[in-house]
Formats: sequence, structure tokens, C-alpha cells
Amino acid sequence: MFSRWNLVRNPFDTSPISLGTLDWFVGRTKEVEVCRRVVSERSVVLVEGGLGVGTTSFGNATRFGAERLTPRMEIAVYRGWNAQTLLENVLVAVLHDLLDIPGAARSKAVRKARTLVQRVEQTVHSAGVSVLGFGGQVSRNVAVTQPGIVPMETLRQSLLALAEAFPPKQGSASFAVQLNNLDPELTFSEDELSSFLNDIRDSLQLPGFSWLLVGKTGLARFVTHRVPRLRSIVSHDVLLPPLSFREVQAVVNKRLDACALPGRKARNPIEPRLLARIHEASGGSLRETFIICSKLCLAIAGDPMYEAITEAEACKLLAELSAARLAGVGKGTLRYAILKTLGEAGEVTQKQLAERLGKNQTAISRAAKGLLESELIHRNKQGREVKYRPMAEISLAAGSL
Ligand SMILES: Nc1ncnc2c1ncn2[C@@H]1O[C@H](COP(=O)(O)OP(=O)(O)OP(=O)(O)O)[C@@H](O)[C@H]1O
Ligand SMILES: [Mg+2]
Repeated sequence: MFSRWNLVRNPFDTSPISLGTLDWFVGRTKEVEVCRRVVSERSVVLVEGGLGVGTTSFGNATRFGAERLTPRMEIAVYRGWNAQTLLENVLVAVLHDLLDIPGAARSKAVRKARTLVQRVEQTVHSAGVSVLGFGGQVSRNVAVTQPGIVPMETLRQSLLALAEAFPPKQGSASFAVQLNNLDPELTFSEDELSSFLNDIRDSLQLPGFSWLLVGKTGLARFVTHRVPRLRSIVSHDVLLPPLSFREVQAVVNKRLDACALPGRKARNPIEPRLLARIHEASGGSLRETFIICSKLCLAIAGDPMYEAITEAEACKLLAELSAARLAGVGKGTLRYAILKTLGEAGEVTQKQLAERLGKNQTAISRAAKGLLESELIHRNKQGREVKYRPMAEISLAAGSL
């Protein structure tokens, strides 16, 4: 389908940058350099940024280039996790990659870890919870549904033994481990996140390990106010702004080159001005930008009339694509008024919406809930302040409201 643009596949894939795509990483040079140095010593680093701006990719680019042993699989943290679940998952992830090192399977520490992982896996199976197979993430529910079969201290000792068996050439950290999804108010309620972080705090001090804790904007502040015990062991904070538009263009160009048909020069299905507009409407979210680009490509896939999609065509197409969702918002309702305001103004606080529309905040919050459920807007709560903004595709289609 993409061959009409001389592309082998969709260049707007939204997987985070990983070991195989490190060449695609653009920008943030200084931050990555500093962060690589920090994780080579035993450390805890907090990485935060707006949704979809590339926090997971940043962590990956840091640790894959840091000459540390680091799990290839993503460790995304979920509701219900505690220190036990964390260590089980880290052991599985670390061991999985160590087994690829020639001769490693013979090491005493690896053999012991392997036995522990098998015991963890059996528990998961007997609980009737699915595991993604050996090397996959241990189910998020294990620790809450089952008392840990392997005691915490045994897990810690095993991880410690692995770090000692594979010492780093320089620095003090053998392993760099990244935990994604530490999102207050999104993945976790604030109370859940603070009890999880309190619970894992001592495990993060395990000799031989560096930790990248990755979450949305507000994580560092949250840690300062709600988990001071963790704050006291954090060595470095990274706040990632969205990439500039120039950098986004470089990201897309790299992807076009990487996805080009052999011997051909790929063409961009999305006109530069349109790309700029989508990026702006998304508030700098690469994830949201790429999802819209993919949608647009799919929408015109069968129509030979389109060479590259322009801004005007895209707005029309997006209005058609979101027509059904928008139709659910009856004209004259508060939901409609909120959506129209956000379509015109972009990001607005709940308080400002209440003032502009002459309603109280409870009414706004209730109406916004419906819009959130219909996936028409985003909500972002930081501390006490609640902000809303339209989803980028709705903002682009807003002319038709
Ligand atoms: N610096 C970068 N250079 C090139 N591509 C990037 C960069 N950062 C992110 N990307 C790309 O942008 C998309 C989103 O990145 P990523 O998943 O890292 O964002 P995120 O902030 O973790 O998103 P979420 O908030 O949804 O977890 C992916 O397709 C990724 O490959
Ligand atoms: Mg992420």
C-alpha cells in the first residue's frame, strides 16, 4: 500500500526507539550524553515529559548506548505492582538477555536465577494468569493474587549475584533498568503511585543497578512532595520538552530513508506544512502526530488522485473520519461548548473553562468526562490544576464544528 510513495512499509510506526532503531533517534544529544554518564554509576534517574514526546525512546537511547547490560524488553509498570512484582520482572528481563551472552548460562549466578524464574513462572501458571512466555513480562497480577513464592530477599540476592558475576568495565553499575508508565493520575492514582514508589525505594539501592524511572510531566514534583524517601536517592532529573519542528522533520526524513524501497527515493505522503500543523495541534506529541499521519495515509490508500496530502485535504478527511464521534456531541449542550472552546483555544484550564462558559467547575468536569470517554479531548492534571485540550485530529477537524 505504501509502495506508491516508494516505501516498503509505514514510516509512521509508533513503536518507541529501541536497540534496532537507535539510528532513528534525533536530538536531545546533550541530555543523552549526561544521562549515559549518570547511569554508568549506580543511580536513580527520573525522566519526565508530555505524553508521546518520546520519554520511553529517550530512556532506551540512553541505556542502549551506555555500555551497560540492559534488558531489551520494556518493563512497563502497572497498577497493582509492588516491590516483589518489580523484582520478579527485573529478574526475568535481566536473565533473558544474559542467556544470549556466550557461556553465560554456565555461570552459577545465572543458573540460580534461572531456577528462581522457573519457580516464578510456575506460580503464575498455577494462578491461571497468562504470561507472555519466558522472557515476557511477568503478569502484573501475580503479586497481588499470590503471596510471593520466592521471598524478596532471595530475589534481591539473586540480582546482586548477577551484578557481581557480570561486573562493568567502568563505573559501578552492571545493569541499567528502565521502568516506564510511572504516570501519576494516568496509570496509577496518586495514592497507588506513592505507595508503589515507597515500596520499591530500597530495592532501587541494590548495588550494581541503575534505574531510569520514566513517566509523564509532573513525576519529579510528585516524588518531591509525595515520596521524599525516594527523592533523597535520586541522582539526576531529566525534563524532556517536545522536539522542535525541525527535529521532527529530521525524524521523518530518517524514517523515509529507512523505509524506502531498495534503490528508490521515498516520497513523503504528508506535506511539510501539514506535518507542522499536526505536530503543533498535538502539543508536540510524536505519538499522536504519527497516528494521524498513518490514519491519513490509510484513508487515501486506494485513491490514486492523492500524491501528497495537503493541509486542507487533511482537515476535510479528518472531519469525515471523526464525524460519527462528533455527532454524539449534541449542539447546544455544555459538551459542545467545551469542545468548541478547546477547538479554538487549544489547551485551557478547567477553571478558565468554567469562567468563560459561566458554569461551575463541577459541571465542566462532568461534561468533560463524556468528551474524554468519546476520545475527543485530553485531560492533564498536575497537582491541583486540571487542563484540557482537544485531541489533535479533532482540533484539525474543528472547522467543521
Ligand atoms: N528523539 C527521537 N527521535 C526519533 N524518534 C523519536 C524520538 N523520540 C520519540 N520518537 C518516536 O516517537 C514515537 C513516540 O515515542 P515514545 O513511545 O518514546 O514516546 P513516549 O513519550 O514514551 O509516549 P507515551 O507517553 O505514549 O508513553 C515513537 O514512534 C518513537 O519512535
Ligand atoms: Mg512511553
